[in-house]
Amino acid sequence: MNLFKKISILLLISCAFAFAKPTIYILATGGTIAGAGDSQIKSSYSAGAVTVDKLIAAVPAINEIATIKGEQISSIGSQEMNNKVWLKLAKRVNELLARKDVDGIVITHGTDTMEESAYFLHLTAKSKKPIVFVGAMRSGTSMSADGPMNLYNAVNVAINKESAGKGVLVVMNDEIHSARDVTKTITTSVQTFASPNSGKIGTVFYGNVEYFMQPTKAHTVNSEFDVSKIEELARVDILFAHPEDSDTFVKAAVEAGAKGIIHAGMGNGNLFPSTQDALAQAAKDGVVVVRSSRVPNGSTTLEGEVDDKKFGFIAANSLNAAKARVLLMLALTKTSDPKEIQKLFLKY
Ligand code: SIN
Repeated sequence: MNLFKKISILLLISCAFAFAKPTIYILATGGTIAGAGDSQIKSSYSAGAVTVDKLIAAVPAINEIATIKGEQISSIGSQEMNNKVWLKLAKRVNELLARKDVDGIVITHGTDTMEESAYFLHLTAKSKKPIVFVGAMRSGTSMSADGPMNLYNAVNVAINKESAGKGVLVVMNDEIHSARDVTKTITTSVQTFASPNSGKIGTVFYGNVEYFMQPTKAHTVNSEFDVSKIEELARVDILFAHPEDSDTFVKAAVEAGAKGIIHAGMGNGNLFPSTQDALAQAAKDGVVVVRSSRVPNGSTTLEGEVDDKKFGFIAANSLNAAKARVLLMLALTKTSDPKEIQKLFLKY
């Protein structure tokens, strides 16, 4: 073969690579984005009724920007989310992203517990490639459904080079959030997701992605949590504080076998006296107790009004109770030493 022919073949191969569309896997778990109802103008519907193939078929524009493959992980409303699905999802995400021919993943999910699932993946996925959670507040059969544009935007975020290394992202209503900080803030509105302490990290408008900042806490490839060989996670319960609280639920959680308790306390994680006594006893008996807050903004800090050292409590830092539960479940795969777990709450 002469030199001219060789150069032409090399040029053709590099052009093919340059113009090859990225491959994105859409892993569907259910939720309103896969919901269907009888009326365009009623809020009732069944979550998870629409399969991944139909979700993909409803947004043909995503096939123009990526080679799309779909897989059904589960078909549930995210209020039914559980450890089994989390572990299955984490393992499948790691398997797929280890492949050279996979460029990113979009996970369709109900909005109710998206913040927990996304944070679980943020701490257990072992890849810098983009992983994007997306959902909808209106089902596909509703008037002005938000799912199709959210899915289009999510795929655009997943193929965007700047999304790499940012950990798990949540795309909803033209905004990009880090899984670490995002939370659902309004029960029914399409503008429900917010990151109260840090703000959104970017926007995506008709597929155009713009980032403003970078998540700073450890995640994905820098996380020490590895669930590849784990089949079960420890039970961790959340207790919600209120005036005239009682020790009943602490005792019930311990009796039911909880290895950890997240206390969503008042203000800076403060506790009603009888609850505090019961949690101090639980901590003495080896249950890991984390003080979080029922207040949606700010941090639960060490050594505020509560003597954490004396009681053996851990402070959740800027994680809300739902996310503190995820981190504690993963922390318990490594240690049950409160001092070590406190370090993890400052790191992640
Ligand atoms: C769910 O979380 O599965 C129901 C609510 C939603 O997806 O918006």
